[in-house]
Amino acid sequence: MNSFTYYSPTRVHFGPKTTDQVGQYIRESGGTSVLVLYGGGSAVKSGTLKRVTDSLAAAGLSYVCEGGVQPNPRLAFAQGLVDRYQGKGIDFLLAVGGGSVLDTMKAVSHGLTCGSPVWDFYEGKRTVTAALPMASVLTIAAAGSETSDSSVLTNEAIGVKRGVNTPFNRPLFAVMDPELTYTLPPYQTACGVTDIMMHTLDRYFSDHDDDYLTDAIAHALLRDVMDAGLLAMAEPDNYSARSEIMWCGSLSHNDLTGLGHTKDFSVHQLGHELSARFDLAHGASLSIMWPVWARYVAGTNPARFAGLGRAVLNITEADDATAAQLTISGFEGYWQRLGMPVCFSQAKEVGVQEDSVLQALALGCSRQNTRKVGVFRPIDTADMLELYRAANH
Ligand code: NZQ
Ligand code: ZN
Repeated sequence: MNSFTYYSPTRVHFGPKTTDQVGQYIRESGGTSVLVLYGGGSAVKSGTLKRVTDSLAAAGLSYVCEGGVQPNPRLAFAQGLVDRYQGKGIDFLLAVGGGSVLDTMKAVSHGLTCGSPVWDFYEGKRTVTAALPMASVLTIAAAGSETSDSSVLTNEAIGVKRGVNTPFNRPLFAVMDPELTYTLPPYQTACGVTDIMMHTLDRYFSDHDDDYLTDAIAHALLRDVMDAGLLAMAEPDNYSARSEIMWCGSLSHNDLTGLGHTKDFSVHQLGHELSARFDLAHGASLSIMWPVWARYVAGTNPARFAGLGRAVLNITEADDATAAQLTISGFEGYWQRLGMPVCFSQAKEVGVQEDSVLQALALGCSRQNTRKVGVFRPIDTADMLELYRAANH
């Protein structure tokens, strides 16, 4: 087990009705003037935004609401909010939504506390050194941003999607009411389950495999979210299924499922290029890229894949190489049952592409041939190109 520092400071308020307490939670945290961010309208339609603002008003807080965050959130929108609210006395940020709203909130926090331009932090030109108090009312279980140290933005002007990781990205608290996720379209539920799985899978494939407690947590989480995912697809208002998915979402990306490991995250990096170029949902980019990545690297350590399949998918095959292939097909088949794409042609945003586009994707992922990604088997530009080609049908 590698040495590690585990820091997961976000307070979680979990359960029905917590949404109506958000004003009180902010008051207890010392907030007085709140900037509330939300997305394209689902929070208005469902009534969640009204419940939130009623709660803020009841707690005697002043607030202003800004909607319009898009999935694969855009830099220009976040920078615009920073420009508008700089010096306006905002002392608390609240996201009502999912990863896109949360990540926009984190970018606004960077800009309001550390100055503009916000993109500097995503390019690594400057370091985040402070944060405004932040929290969320989570409406989709997926990205794990409600407890994570990440924020991911797309710079639409140059077609680049980048993340920044810093302890200053950890929100103060998360309101997690599973009932808020009943209104999710099936595709978004499926994207969320896929992303939650990937936050564990991308940590599972490390450069060593002797972290037994971490592995056991990962196995349990994967089994749980996969079962609950199928149930929630069949019964969108099944509280038990929605609760399991929501809690898995946070634990999958607050680092618990990777303690002692070095994270791989190749599949996330490969996927971000697809989302940046095609505005493809994050979860869909992952269900496409994991099977091709897994088949490409499985020979590095087939026993690792085989062990995963035996623990999560009940694979009984004794031969590791065969069991590894069954494991990969098993996860791929699961995503197909959820209705997720597993190749380019199954994603309407992507479709089959010219080889020149695949080359551009590979160069984007390797940052113009300046880096490899991953640790299980580090991959370079040539490997990335092979992976995009393998998915291009
Ligand atoms: O915009 P609205 O109208 O709210 O609709 C949203 C959006 O279209 C809809 N939705 C959310 N809650 C709903 C709902 N529709 C009906 N009922 C509800 N209760 O769902 C759609 C997707 O929302 P989004 O916030 O984009 O989803 P998600 O949470 O999957 O976030 C994805 C973003 O997070 C990033 C991804 O790359 C992507 O940009 N990630 C962030 C991470 C982090 N900060 O730690 C880690 C992840 O690996 C990921 O990269
Ligand atoms: Zn993810």
